[in-house]
Amino acid sequence: MQIGPPKGETEWRWLHTLWQQEWGGDTMVSRGHIYQLADLVSLVAKVDGEMAGAATYRIDGRGGCELMSINATRPHAGVGSRLLEAVERAAREAGCRRVWLITSNDNLNALRFYQRRGYRMAALYPGAIDEARRIKPSIPLVGNDGIEIHDELELAKALA
Ligand SMILES: CC(C)(COP(=O)(O)OP(=O)(O)OC[C@H]1O[C@@H](n2cnc3c(N)ncnc32)[C@H](O)[C@@H]1OP(=O)(O)O)[C@@H](O)C(=O)NCCC(=O)NCCS
Repeated sequence: MQIGPPKGETEWRWLHTLWQQEWGGDTMVSRGHIYQLADLVSLVAKVDGEMAGAATYRIDGRGGCELMSINATRPHAGVGSRLLEAVERAAREAGCRRVWLITSNDNLNALRFYQRRGYRMAALYPGAIDEARRIKPSIPLVGNDGIEIHDELELAKALA
């Protein structure tokens, strides 16, 4: 597996399409702030030369690194774990003390994934996604497992 920044027009186009399909466009709303894909640091994963996943993050300027997105288009093959490790490594190199992220209340798979990898619950923001939906109407009302999406959960991991 190869992990690194997207290279060339084809890989960037693939990343834009992934965001369109998975996140409803090129913007991400987190804690009420709007971020554009182009403003974030992106990493893509390739398996046997084929695109297999991507992660994006930003250094928050307060000793933290916010993981903004992570997707494995080839699931259960270690892509998500390797991308997360790569983000943590980059965060350490940038001098961050912690990695944190926001996920939605319906994303039970993500809650499992992160907690299995040392992340702890850090905060709950009830109704925050209802607010975000006003900024980004493409955020669906019903999410995974038919669960209504309303709340943001913050998870964090201290970097050793
Ligand atoms: C969350 C997500 C990125 C995880 O990605 P993934 O590539 O499936 O994750 P991994 O393959 O690294 O790990 C998942 C499981 O597969 C298993 N696995 C890893 N490599 C494997 C292999 N070669 N063979 C069989 N199983 C394997 C792992 O053991 C792991 O199980 P564990 O959590 O009990 O340890 C992915 O589910 C996803 O894209 N979700 C949708 C987007 C999303 O919700 N992102 C988070 C937003 S906050």
